[in-house]
Amino acid sequence: MNVLFFSSKVYDSTFFNAANKSHQHKLSYLEVPLNKNTAVLANGYGAVCIFVNDTANAEVLRLLAEQGVKLIALRCAGFNNVDLGAAAELGMKVVRVPAYSPYSVAEHTLALILTLNRKTHRAYNRVKEGNFALNGLMGFDLNGKTVGLIGLGKIGLVTAKILKGFGCRVLGYDIEKRGEFDEIGIEFTDLSSLYANSDIISLHCPLTPQTHHIIKKETIAQMKPGVMLINTSRGALVDTKAVIAALKSGQIKYLGIDVYEEEADLFFEDLSDRVIQDDVFMRLLSFNNVLITGHQAFFTSNALESIAGITLQNIADFEQGRQLENEVKA
Ligand SMILES: NC(=O)c1ccc[n+]([C@@H]2O[C@H](COP(=O)([O-])OP(=O)(O)OC[C@H]3O[C@@H](n4cnc5c(N)ncnc54)[C@H](O)[C@@H]3O)[C@@H](O)[C@H]2O)c1
Repeated sequence: MNVLFFSSKVYDSTFFNAANKSHQHKLSYLEVPLNKNTAVLANGYGAVCIFVNDTANAEVLRLLAEQGVKLIALRCAGFNNVDLGAAAELGMKVVRVPAYSPYSVAEHTLALILTLNRKTHRAYNRVKEGNFALNGLMGFDLNGKTVGLIGLGKIGLVTAKILKGFGCRVLGYDIEKRGEFDEIGIEFTDLSSLYANSDIISLHCPLTPQTHHIIKKETIAQMKPGVMLINTSRGALVDTKAVIAALKSGQIKYLGIDVYEEEADLFFEDLSDRVIQDDVFMRLLSFNNVLITGHQAFFTSNALESIAGITLQNIADFEQGRQLENEVKA
């Protein structure tokens, strides 16, 4: 099938070209993101392959349909950027990669927790400059701390298992209670008691209308003073301005984020010689107890191999009229 990639980087073409050896797709790569100005570039392509910050709203989908596009293949798990209702009305199918490596994101979550706690990023710079002073580097034992996980799906569960290995007490909340939570030793609880009792809170639920700004002024007020907040899921789960106020008051003592609600204008690009216009983001960067990574939690070779293989199989299934195992519907 003719497939046009939007927002593609060298690592995308490397992994997709390798995986395409077992398929016969014709893959073309564009660096530009998908939006209402670029949708016309898909003229003559049966499928487009998009990523987390591409725009696939009703207007863009209509433009794609006019070019002859019949399949939207997401090379990621989240699908909050696609208007599924509009896709259905236009007769377009949407497929995604529901699971690739939950370890990639769960392990990055731990990287954020450990770095914020033990300040290895600051220690690295100090030691390079011959500064071996320990002032300001004091952390705490993770062993015995209570960690609250919101969302206990694939990534939440792997994160819970790792944290249990550190000797943490793990509280968890999800809209659905499943037997495996008990097996892992997660104490299933409601949100209020998770907020009230957790030393660290980490978000692993999808972005939906129900979870938009789940972390806001009112919920932050229910948390333990000095809490550590980690978000590797989606930026808009968190009201950034409310978090900034809580960082200033000390209610939140550490913040680790791999995602940001306005990340589409920033992440995945080298903007080091430009003036960043987002004042809220720049305020976040100014805190020494905030650690930001640019949506890299998924970025392991294992995950990329898996994403490429599953995406190309999704496209082959569509082309050959087979059941679409990874279809997402409104
Ligand atoms: N930073 C990254 O690179 C990266 C990579 C992959 C996924 N993600 C994010 O991680 C999220 C989780 O991924 P996953 O593979 O574990 O997904 P998953 O579908 O396996 O699990 C999501 C869990 O969240 C629960 N949930 C849904 N609505 C909820 C709510 N209102 N409150 C609490 N729980 C709720 C679901 O019941 C499910 O158990 C994805 O939605 C995506 O946004 C980020």
